[in-house]
Amino acid sequence: MPESRPEKLIIDGKRLDGRKFDELRPIKIEVDVLKRADGSCYLEMGKNKVVAAVYGPREVHPRHLQDPSKAIIRYRYNMAPFSVEERKRPGPDRRSIEISKVSKEAFEAVIMKELFPRSAIDIFVEVLQADAGSRTACINAASVALVDAGVPMKGILTSVAVAKVDGQLVLDPMKEEDNYGEADMPFAFLIRNSKIESIALIQMDGQMTKEEIKMALELAKKGAMEIYKLQREAIMKRYVTEEGIEVEEVNTDA
Ligand code: CDP
Repeated sequence: MPESRPEKLIIDGKRLDGRKFDELRPIKIEVDVLKRADGSCYLEMGKNKVVAAVYGPREVHPRHLQDPSKAIIRYRYNMAPFSVEERKRPGPDRRSIEISKVSKEAFEAVIMKELFPRSAIDIFVEVLQADAGSRTACINAASVALVDAGVPMKGILTSVAVAKVDGQLVLDPMKEEDNYGEADMPFAFLIRNSKIESIALIQMDGQMTKEEIKMALELAKKGAMEIYKLQREAIMKRYVTEEGIEVEEVNTDA
């Protein structure tokens, strides 16, 4: 990454990595990568590399945390010390606590918690390599891991950010665009049966006009639908065998 701001972030309509304004970075999704988790997923979004592991629904410890009416959701976003340019001190910091909180709240709107009173559903996401948008990559991975674990959900969460760079909105910003752009706006959508049902997360830093915010939402929806297709494909690939469908109770939308 350059030490100082590149003179331009968009040259002749192309971004520094050659993408058009509405293009995602390449995405790779692999389901069921961890033997000891109930559900897991490895996901790459550009240079981001993340792993999600889901445990549960399982008994809550300590027991005083139990909720008799529903499951509690716990979400831990963690960055490996080697995931960023300047070594990150291991352990939680303000940023990771905030990301964990907002991501947890997004999943609370999606997971059918009432079906599992007194239990916990634990979602761990580990960032192995970060290049902006790591929270979005983690939400996308966690969503797939939850499906892999067979956790009943109202749909799938799909997440992507939109940034404003050189006065132009761009989908799925990478590090340089995130660092030197004018605004960054991560979204997460609840998608069910290939339809966006609701917004589960919006954050923003920087500045956008009202009109730009509307346009950013449309751009994010377009990106989310593309990611959703890849999430579904990855799940199907894991559960459809040569002999036929081994989907059992696994439903990509529920
Ligand atoms: O990753 P995300 O965009 O969700 O969160 P951010 O706080 O906007 O961070 C943007 C990027 O800054 C991360 O993806 C990392 O590449 C980088 N970063 C870093 O280099 N060192 C940190 N301690 C935290 C973030």
